[in-house]
Amino acid sequence: MSGRFQASADSKRVNTNKNLNRERQFKLMSKKEVAGSDPNSDGSSSRGPNLAMYLEVEELEGIGPVMKTKLNTAGIVTVMDLASKSPNEIADAVGSDLQRAAEICEKAREKLVELKYLGENFVSATEIYKRRMAIERISTGSKNLDDLLSGGIESQAVTEFYGEFGSGKTQICHTLCVMVQQPKELGGLHGKVVYIDTENTFRPERIVGIAEARECDPDAILDGIIVAKAYNSAHQELILSELGKQVRDHGVRLVIVDSAVAHYRAEFLGRGTLSERQQRLNKFMHALVRAAEIYNVAVVATNQVQASPDTFFGDPTKATGGHVVAHTSTYRVYIRKTGKNRVARMVDSPYHAEREVLFVLNEKGVDDPPEEVNSSFSKRKQS
Ligand code: GTP
Ligand code: MG
Repeated sequence: MSGRFQASADSKRVNTNKNLNRERQFKLMSKKEVAGSDPNSDGSSSRGPNLAMYLEVEELEGIGPVMKTKLNTAGIVTVMDLASKSPNEIADAVGSDLQRAAEICEKAREKLVELKYLGENFVSATEIYKRRMAIERISTGSKNLDDLLSGGIESQAVTEFYGEFGSGKTQICHTLCVMVQQPKELGGLHGKVVYIDTENTFRPERIVGIAEARECDPDAILDGIIVAKAYNSAHQELILSELGKQVRDHGVRLVIVDSAVAHYRAEFLGRGTLSERQQRLNKFMHALVRAAEIYNVAVVATNQVQASPDTFFGDPTKATGGHVVAHTSTYRVYIRKTGKNRVARMVDSPYHAEREVLFVLNEKGVDDPPEEVNSSFSKRKQS
């Protein structure tokens, strides 16, 4: 495991032998699935680990030993890693011009299309519909919140939760760490999670509490969380660029960035630095979107809100990432407090109705309110 990523269990309840055994079992399982997978199978089915994930960069035409070494040095090992990068990143890694880098990126994508891992550029609406049917979902732990998200957090997409301090963004992230590890019939994807912690608010003891309240084995759950603490925005970007290895080696199905914008906000102060901040944030958010698609993982990013005195109508708060985050996240959910409860609203979704649901924070992490509270909230909304 790379030094930047750390199993959460390292800090609590360590049982090294058990961890190693589980790791080994997991690797064996992955290898078995790889061996059994057919690269020519219909790409519209659930993708999971397959040959595309392990195909190394030198398998691409035009990539010789020198370029391979340069790419590997930059942490780009497989064709999937290559396809998940922007031409700018490739150009920096190999010292080529942008056009050559764009060609390499395109070749990587074409290879993944050839392997039926990615879809063609031009496809029928029926094919897109079929692919959307193959998208997998992770339950948030609350039925109401799942309904708002049409069944849960989607794979191959970035879901952003934004709201003021204490609204429950970090609690949602902690609950998802437990939920994603559940079997599919219980709302999970039987996968591990990478937690990029930028605010130092990841708490393994809270994970233990949520796991116990949900009748899961807390040790197993902690083993399945790979934590990366990001100390500044550049470090946060570096961690994301190394994600491919974690996904390959550990069967990661969910990536959490809590919070995506905090470092950018702290580092780029004042109006003079705004455009640089937005550019860097834009790059990071696009990298998240590409990672979600290429590695077939669900991505959850959180974002704070700040008072916006120029707003006269609606809620006088807006997400700090501004337009950048709004335009790159696939789904945006606004969270606010109402007394002891929380209200979630789907914002600007291409296909969800803009509506609000109620949820609560308790020992299970995210949960549904008691039925009477729920129905009186729904009645109020309808009237
Ligand atoms: P910022 O990161 O500051 O922007 O806030 P956030 O949106 O991430 O808030 P967070 O998810 O940390 O929510 C904090 C709130 O969660 C607290 O005010 C509590 O209401 C609730 N909470 C946290 N831990 C527990 C717990 O163990 N039990 C219960 N019942 N509630 C908890
Ligand atoms: Mg938080």
